[in-house]
Amino acid sequence: MSFGLGRGRQLDVTGVGIDASELPPLPPSGAAPDPARFDPRRWFPHPERPFEIEIGSGKGAFLLQQAADEPGTNFLGIEWAKEFWAYAADRVRRRALPNVRLLHADATEFLRWRVPDGCARVIHLYFSDPWPKARHHKRRVVQDRFLADARRVLAPGGELRIVTDHADYWAWMEAHFARWCGPNPAHPLADSPGGFAREPFERPSSAGEGEVVGTNFERKYAREGRPFHAAKLRRLVG
Ligand SMILES: C[S@@+](CC[C@H](N)C(=O)[O-])C[C@H]1O[C@@H](n2cnc3c(N)ncnc32)[C@H](O)[C@@H]1O
Repeated sequence: MSFGLGRGRQLDVTGVGIDASELPPLPPSGAAPDPARFDPRRWFPHPERPFEIEIGSGKGAFLLQQAADEPGTNFLGIEWAKEFWAYAADRVRRRALPNVRLLHADATEFLRWRVPDGCARVIHLYFSDPWPKARHHKRRVVQDRFLADARRVLAPGGELRIVTDHADYWAWMEAHFARWCGPNPAHPLADSPGGFAREPFERPSSAGEGEVVGTNFERKYAREGRPFHAAKLRRLVG
């Protein structure tokens, strides 16, 4: 599958990029995702390997670095901006990294309806769009619904790793985390015990010197001298 980028440049996502339109129909309304019917781990040559998800992978810098560092882990990047998705998938194809797939979809919907329980070791969310206007806050990825879905999708002991530069979004995240941390989160969406434990953020192995993660946005914001905020939430056994 090829996409024109203008000025004659073609992006080729063959073997790496998957479009949401290729996914099978959803189960009947309200039914839980059925791993026998659909499981994104089957997109990889070795589906039995540890599985990590990056939400909003942008141009793919983190995926390219970390997947090369950890060839025994499968990485699924999910990106809803078509041009970034195609750009990142083309880069992965040219690097011939068999352990990366890029999905063009809304990651929050995909997590909610498509990803089986307890299948992910890590969910990465780096420099998620802050949507600063109050009327757009509902578009932020971090919501109570998202934290409930992340908890379901992570294996017990699995991690949600988040970094942002945006002070107001960080305060919003902290308020949400507070509702979901501890052995018995009180939120109505927490239908079973076992929330998250808040732990210090650890830089991934591929981060460069002085970097928190080493994404494209981090590098841009670091040049502007912006401070960063980072969190790691470990799913407690519930
Ligand atoms: C500010 S950029 C950061 C990109 C990259 N993580 C980085 O740090 O360089 C946020 C990215 O998340 C994508 N995004 C935002 N909400 C999304 C969603 N619900 N599903 C998939 N991608 C999303 C945007 O299209 C954008 O590429």
